[in-house]
Amino acid sequence: MRGVIDILDLSVAEVDQMISTACDIIDNPEKYSQICRGKKLATLFFEPSTRTRLSFEAAMYELGGNVLSVASADSSSAAKGESVSDTARVVSCYADIIAMRHPKEGAAFVASKNASVPVINAGDGGHCHPTQTLADLLTIFREKGRLGDITVGLCGDLKFGRTVHSLINALSRYEGVKFVLISPEELKLPSYVKNDVLKRKGIPYKQTTDLLEAMPELDVLYMTRVQRERFFNEEDYLRLKDSYILTPEKLKTAKADAIVMHPLPRVNEISVAVDSDPRACYFKQVLNGKYMRMALILMLLKEAGTI
Ligand code: NCD
Repeated sequence: MRGVIDILDLSVAEVDQMISTACDIIDNPEKYSQICRGKKLATLFFEPSTRTRLSFEAAMYELGGNVLSVASADSSSAAKGESVSDTARVVSCYADIIAMRHPKEGAAFVASKNASVPVINAGDGGHCHPTQTLADLLTIFREKGRLGDITVGLCGDLKFGRTVHSLINALSRYEGVKFVLISPEELKLPSYVKNDVLKRKGIPYKQTTDLLEAMPELDVLYMTRVQRERFFNEEDYLRLKDSYILTPEKLKTAKADAIVMHPLPRVNEISVAVDSDPRACYFKQVLNGKYMRMALILMLLKEAGTI
């Protein structure tokens, strides 16, 4: 059964189709409000989440469906030592589709191999987060009118930030995309993304530690949180956590039509004074995430013959 573990499990044509479905949902929500009637989504979240879980659940409710939810590892049989593969088999007996978040890289992949319903990866450790990328792509598309011919600055924790890894993979498939990778030395993009995606595909990119130097050329500035839960020691986290704090002052040299994105939750990376700048798009991203998850659930349930 096909699921979505990596953003590359979706073709460019499918992503583009989902963007157009999401735009249609935005314009005609009533057309979609009963399509998943009687169907169930299970959200299995073994790691903290606010947006992703609630947005999957809101998406299913807005399609007329129902939701079964595990909101933490310690409230499920995972705490008794149940394997991901057994959990996936069990939940397939109750639900038509599963969204899973797990602290271990590869967990959603294992679940999808054992489930008899489609599994969507809602974040696996520091690896990838395809549905955040769908939210990001719809946001860029709605704000900039295109997904190609853009210079994208990715700033912060590029090492552990799974949203960055998936976004690079996704945008690398469009023409004319350039990346500026802005991070402290210790939090640089892992080589499996840098070498296997950027270098292998000949995609132009620069690496720098200096956000201000990069600012004037960016069409998109994607800020990220330093991923405390993936650090081996707290001292390193404390030293690196405030490496970049975006303020209105720092945005002065940004393009007038640039957009500022962040997958959220924000800790300190963007001062609240930036929120009123018309270029700040991070709360729009949240809403776009719900529409893209609706489009994804629809696509996978149609493909599975469930609706
Ligand atoms: C992100 C995640 O979980 O990777 N959050 C989200 O899903 N919007 C980003 C983060 O936690 O920093």
